[in-house]
Amino acid sequence: MKFDSNPDRIIIFDTTLRDGEQSPGATLNVDEKIAIARQLARLGVDVIEAGFAFASPGDFEAINKIAQLVGTEDGPVICSLARASQGDIKAAAEAIAPAYHQRIHTFIATSDIHLEYKLRKSRQEVLKIAPEMVAYAKSFTDDIEFSPEDAGRSDPEFLYEILEAVIDAGATTINIPDTVGYTTPSEFGGLIKGISENVRNIDRAIISVHGHNDLGLAVANFLEAVQNGARQLECTINGIGERAGNAALEELVMAMHVRRKFYNPFLGRPAESEAPLTHINTQEIYKTSRLVSNLTGMFVQPNKAIVGANAFSHESGIHQDGVLKNKLTYEIMDAQLIGLTDNQIVLGKHSGRNAFRTRLKELGYELADQELNKAFVRFKEIADKKKEITDWDLESIVNDETQQP
Ligand code: KIV
Ligand code: ZN
Repeated sequence: MKFDSNPDRIIIFDTTLRDGEQSPGATLNVDEKIAIARQLARLGVDVIEAGFAFASPGDFEAINKIAQLVGTEDGPVICSLARASQGDIKAAAEAIAPAYHQRIHTFIATSDIHLEYKLRKSRQEVLKIAPEMVAYAKSFTDDIEFSPEDAGRSDPEFLYEILEAVIDAGATTINIPDTVGYTTPSEFGGLIKGISENVRNIDRAIISVHGHNDLGLAVANFLEAVQNGARQLECTINGIGERAGNAALEELVMAMHVRRKFYNPFLGRPAESEAPLTHINTQEIYKTSRLVSNLTGMFVQPNKAIVGANAFSHESGIHQDGVLKNKLTYEIMDAQLIGLTDNQIVLGKHSGRNAFRTRLKELGYELADQELNKAFVRFKEIADKKKEITDWDLESIVNDETQQP
């Protein structure tokens, strides 16, 4: 990706194959990773973090194959994660080498709690290692991302210092992770604002954000970060990832799509601009979600925003009646936008006569008013006993009613 410190769109960095695969029980084989990477490219993500090359031979191979097969000139940037050590960085560089657009993402922790208990290093030591390793990574490729791990719990003054040093050493993206999902939206937005105002050379790098969902706040934190200068969002399909997962790509993209008039001014555009905020082809969202769920074996909860089975279903009679008259009454986005054929009217005990009549019509039954009334009474009796009424149930209700003398 050509470095542009002021992109007019939000860069979508997908880490389904790296942080997403770190979900307990979600391991993928090489072919499955390639299939997901191809679909991510169709979805239009800007960067694919394909894995952690040093972690295992399987990870190395998957990154390397994705770099060959998906990392084409007009394809996404292919990235590998690497700790701030020469061995990791060299493995990352070798794994991504076949890609046309390559990125090395190196990280080291900066919070006192990680320094003391995990790294057993002082701030001064970390302040020396980080720029040295960024400079080393730069000897392989120009596109270098640096993450101060656990930034959400790090001292902001120390962050400013280390970020200045890594930008001077050549980092082109500085990624701010809320590694343990601890921050709240106003805190996280404030952290991004502080970085954009206090890091001397920030105009030479893109600010990125990465966040986990331990308090269910990752997407809200990211949206606040965009308002304060973040231009790259690191996310996963279906929000999979360590513990409670990462910020969900589909939620971020659709929030910014549906509310783009609100987000436009933060990108320096007129509020009325219709230009999309990301490169994502939203019509590929549902398909990508299903693929990731099927291959990882990670079930998507029915009430999950955007891609859950109930996200475009209407059960209550009042809602069904409204939607049949005009979708805008209870829908803020069209199901077709994410690649579904249409919303779903689910018939159950809360459904009303209008939804009942409409579904019968779709099944080819046009009942006279009296027949419809009787069939509707029977429908309600059955609906009280069953969770969901199927088309089979409807057909047998109609047949019973219309065959009675
Ligand atoms: O959560 C985290 O801090 C990470 C980093 C490696 C970016 O995944
Ligand atoms: Zn993470």
